[in-house]
Amino acid sequence: MLRVVVLISGTGSNLRAFLEGCDSGSIPATVVAVGADVNAAGLEYASSRGIPTFVEPLNAGDDRAAWGDRLADAIAAHDPDLVILSGFMRLVPPAVVSRFSPMLLNTHPAYLPEFPGAHGVRDAFEAGVSETGASVIVVDNGVDTGPILAQRRVPILPTDTVESLHDRIKPVERELLAEVVRDIAARFTATTH
Ligand code: GRF
Repeated sequence: MLRVVVLISGTGSNLRAFLEGCDSGSIPATVVAVGADVNAAGLEYASSRGIPTFVEPLNAGDDRAAWGDRLADAIAAHDPDLVILSGFMRLVPPAVVSRFSPMLLNTHPAYLPEFPGAHGVRDAFEAGVSETGASVIVVDNGVDTGPILAQRRVPILPTDTVESLHDRIKPVERELLAEVVRDIAARFTATTH
């Protein structure tokens, strides 16, 4: 089973879905820890499931490089095969990218390279386009600029709000992530035998 560390910043609804996929066997992975940069609500959920959690805050005035080293060490302590960002709302520090990429993935609620960054759903909505999407990428040192592993279009409906659109995108992100992790697990298993 792939050992996965998930990084979040928010509610962790995508984390919950990922854990359900692991429980059902549809995702051949086990989440060995959940980390965050803030005391994210999703951490309580992980703890309630008996999953180790950690918080590595980036406080105002903190040295980003030092934070990156702390975060990389906190992740490495759980010996992951794969690190997944799921609503982690910080630019991943170079120390983490260099330590874990390309086994470092992010889900993004837009059809990259369209609408990168922290407000992809709102930006697509406000652009007035008829469709956006969801993407799974390898994290590099840019903002959502890494290699695209999977992506799918999601329509924007005239009746949509940013929230209803995001609620329609998230399930697609989850499906794409499950597909990508299944593919990685298959290749990983093949090479480790
Ligand atoms: C997801 O759409 C993710 O792609 C984006 O933030 C959202 C996380 O939502 N970066 P949640 O915290 O998993 O509910």
